[in-house]
Amino acid sequence: MAKPSQRKPLMAGNWKMHHNHFEAIQVVQKLAYRLEADDYENCDVVVCPTLICLRSVQTVIESDRMTIGLGAQNCHFEEKGAFTGEVSAPMLAKMNVGFVIVGHSERREMFGETDDIVAKKTRAVLAAGMTPIVCCGETLEEREAEQTNDKVTTQIKAAFLGIKADDVGACVVAYEPIWAIGTGKTATSEDANATIGVIRKVLREMVGPIADTIRILYGGSVKPSNVGELMAMPEIDGALVGGASLDPDDFAKIVRFKR
Ligand code: PGA
Repeated sequence: MAKPSQRKPLMAGNWKMHHNHFEAIQVVQKLAYRLEADDYENCDVVVCPTLICLRSVQTVIESDRMTIGLGAQNCHFEEKGAFTGEVSAPMLAKMNVGFVIVGHSERREMFGETDDIVAKKTRAVLAAGMTPIVCCGETLEEREAEQTNDKVTTQIKAAFLGIKADDVGACVVAYEPIWAIGTGKTATSEDANATIGVIRKVLREMVGPIADTIRILYGGSVKPSNVGELMAMPEIDGALVGGASLDPDDFAKIVRFKR
């Protein structure tokens, strides 16, 4: 099945804990310099700097009227309160942040984020009027034990449980096999496509046909050399890009995957 036209490709750069605010400004400026109107027509482009850089990058995007979307890598699920060191979804929304990565495997593994926390954050991001990029994916052990489909099914069901269909339809999902993140190993396009097909089937069971409008990204060692092959797959609607998004040349090539 061909990709429905409403699923416009989306390339989101997850900068993780890289680039201070001077570097972040330079990178977004260089990226904008390399991209043309056509590129934005073919593909939505989002950068997700560290929390401390969001304000600087937002200011540059707005003052230079860039067509680049702004994303955060995390937020707390409460609106406000005694949560030292945390930032809430409404605070991000106030700064014109449009996307928030939720439940990245690094947060799940290193910062103890459970499926329940991921679900709360997904709801908080939606309530603040932003788009959650909800991540799921299996470990190498799980893959070898052929538990990939069970793992992503559990994660997706937990993240979207009780959220109304229209809201789920407004989300982005990222399938990121943990063993492929930052390792140089990529899932084969066929494997990634098959797992994303499973994710979409689960979403369809939960919310019906609106699931066919949800953009599901692949993440894990995406680079200019493999993005074309991944994007040729019918279920893959874009990429969540870590390492290769740090370099504006590479990220621009990824955005231009068609050429
Ligand atoms: P990577 O990271 O592209 O460096 O593998 C992807 C991610 O974690 O989002």
